[in-house]
Amino acid sequence: MRRVSERQAVRELSRHWRCRGERIGLVPTMGNLHAGHLALVDQLAGEVDRLVVSIFVNPLQFGPEEDYDAYPRTLEADLEALQGRGVDAVFAPSAGEMYPHGAPLTQVDVPALTGTLCGLDRPGHFAGVAVVVLKLLHLVEPDVAAFGAKDYQQLQVVRRAAADLDLPVAIRAVPIVREADGLALSSRNAYLDAEQRRRAPALYAALTELAEALAQGRRDFAALEAQGRERLAAAGFDAVDYVAIRRCDDLAEPAGEERRLVCLGAARLGAARLIDNVEARLI
Ligand code: PAJ
Repeated sequence: MRRVSERQAVRELSRHWRCRGERIGLVPTMGNLHAGHLALVDQLAGEVDRLVVSIFVNPLQFGPEEDYDAYPRTLEADLEALQGRGVDAVFAPSAGEMYPHGAPLTQVDVPALTGTLCGLDRPGHFAGVAVVVLKLLHLVEPDVAAFGAKDYQQLQVVRRAAADLDLPVAIRAVPIVREADGLALSSRNAYLDAEQRRRAPALYAALTELAEALAQGRRDFAALEAQGRERLAAAGFDAVDYVAIRRCDDLAEPAGEERRLVCLGAARLGAARLIDNVEARLI
């Protein structure tokens, strides 16, 4: 497993592989790897000849009040976790290497997908994600790139940007990896104290309850969303950013005839902002 920190070096490596006809995969991450990230790695390791994992805490996607400085940086442990998993290269650039001219003046945004849900609470976040993901896709030129369903809105933004801009990459969605009690794995779970950790699974439970209600035929979306918010408040969340039922592909509000809906939530417990979602497949 090679460790690469320069853009030019990762591009040369990947072009070298491509010239030999090898199929290339990319897993973009911000490091502090856990079983959720490793599920993405394992998924692609089985379907490509060469696998690149990027580790970069992207300053562009953090708001001024957010945890960019506090975000856990654990490169040595991450490299250890990737050993023996079929990873050929870890691309871990510095911020200066990724943004040699300072913050990019070019913007990539998908306003119809980002002007809602997490986009409302985190202005500029998805534009920062889209720029860094496009840069990584251009640098590595993978045939396939994996993203977790945990960050559902991010996944849709990346899918749509890649499709709109004709990027020659397949975007692979990987299901959410959870703790035994249902809490979705996240680097930010480390911010929870013992009491908050005990309350945290209520987010998944509330969203599951909504998905089940939809599967049973309920379509009173506003009432269901209100029920979800109440449940989170009762479970001791400090604030509920949103509980929303949306169409899977475009995150638009449903009219009632849809077959594929997703229940999404974001709520705060102390310093941690947790997000989760549960898809409801309706017959
Ligand atoms: P990060 O939060 O490190 O997540 C990297 C990838 O792992 C994302 O695609 C995310 O959805 C996935 N992931 C995280 N927790 C997961 C879980 N419990 N189950 C399944 N997948 C999970 O998301 C980012 O980094 C950044 O925004 C990035 C795309 C790298 C751009 O900077």
